[in-house]
Amino acid sequence: MAKLDTYLQEQRPVFEKELADFLRIPSVSADSRHQQDMGRASAWVADQFERMGMETEVIETDGHPLIYAESPPVEGVPTALVYGHYDVQPPDPLDEWTTPPFEPTERDGNLYARGATDDKGQMLTHIKSAQAWMETVGHLPIQIKYLIEGEEEMGSESLYQFLETDAKRLDCDVLVISDTSQFGPGRPAITYGLKGIAYYELRLQGPDQDLHSGSFGGAVTNPVNTLARLLASLVDDQGRIQVPGFYEDVDPLETKERNQIAALPFDEAAFMAQIGVKGLTGESGYTTLERRWARPTYDINGIWGGYQGEGGKTVLPAKAGAKFSFRLVPNQDPQQITESLREFLVAQCPPGIELELVDMHGAPGVVVPLDSPYMKAAAQAIEEGFGHSPVFIREGGSIPIVTTFHQSLGVDALLLGWGQDDDNMHSPNEKFSLADFHRGIKSSAYLWRELSQIELKDD
Ligand code: BES
Ligand code: MN
Ligand code: MN
Repeated sequence: MAKLDTYLQEQRPVFEKELADFLRIPSVSADSRHQQDMGRASAWVADQFERMGMETEVIETDGHPLIYAESPPVEGVPTALVYGHYDVQPPDPLDEWTTPPFEPTERDGNLYARGATDDKGQMLTHIKSAQAWMETVGHLPIQIKYLIEGEEEMGSESLYQFLETDAKRLDCDVLVISDTSQFGPGRPAITYGLKGIAYYELRLQGPDQDLHSGSFGGAVTNPVNTLARLLASLVDDQGRIQVPGFYEDVDPLETKERNQIAALPFDEAAFMAQIGVKGLTGESGYTTLERRWARPTYDINGIWGGYQGEGGKTVLPAKAGAKFSFRLVPNQDPQQITESLREFLVAQCPPGIELELVDMHGAPGVVVPLDSPYMKAAAQAIEEGFGHSPVFIREGGSIPIVTTFHQSLGVDALLLGWGQDDDNMHSPNEKFSLADFHRGIKSSAYLWRELSQIELKDD
């Protein structure tokens, strides 16, 4: 690996420049004004593979293109499938960014830009590590397939469609994803659990038009009042979600796992300081890490209705709405929850209000086994790449394809997060540590070697 290490060292400035080029493309999947940029970003990714001589395909979909690439098969050793996404979250609120979101800027060893950690920077590590093998050894020690999508931040619809017809091409032994975080600075981690999600939009329509709240209020049902009641009814003051049957399929946390989580050096005061709050709340009976990683949760993501301008306006608004979501743990079925939720809301909806609940997207949660040879390989690779052995953590975020792969192909994922908790994923001033970028590339390069030492049994 000495030649490879030297190559990685020498190429550092080039890799950083390439990451900055990638980050300059505003590939915001949810915003139709960025349609062209999605095309540019997918072409940029495809070019990376083509330059390595990999068989590469840009797959057009009803939404944003997918990129598929593969290196030649290698007999007797595992095939890895790398998954990542080139789409990013919308950058707003823009005025909270120190430097513009699509002008990557280095400060204190971090590169600031939308998508730096989620997921362009992290995803690129698995491309650069393959390039390093090709340039120094001439070939990869295992077959690597790549599937990079452009709709992860909006529910991965086109990817699901592709899987319906083309899952066979993705045949593999292990899935490799870097789209999560480390436990802390200098504490690399392997994530063994992700939450699922069930995401909704609720629309309430009252009278045909806004009314005078003095003349009509108290007699005509106010959609904003109703919205507030309905949204509040979904959780009690113990943090327990009130949708009937919601907890039916939730596996209780085992003592062993609770002890493992409790043994992690989590500093609650530092956590509060990092996000600027003076207190925390959540489901009673659980610790902060348990709530974040392993218990279902409910959050209102957006809410609208009524007068928001300067001064007061005595109005009874005609409509109101909200976007909200549940984070799910393994075994909870988003579809079943949607049905029960719909019934629960409709039953409470007062006369004079028309209710529409839009089921936007859903995916179950997942936990992957810790005792596989793949986990061992990844732990070894990380130890060499970061100089520390990883801790095992769960995450509150969701990567829907992990569950799909687990269910449909029986393949488990290695979730090797190179990010940090304070990288501002989905927030202003998103960043990625350049040191972590390079450590990630090195760990990835070593992972290919470690995986090549796993002998596949014939089946
Ligand atoms: N990279 C995140 C997933 C993630 C979030 C991992 C937090 C670790 C911590 C991913 O890009 C993401 O944002 N996923 C969405 C999925 C949703 C849109 C279906 C999420 O979790 O909100
Ligand atoms: Mn991501
Ligand atoms: Mn994301």
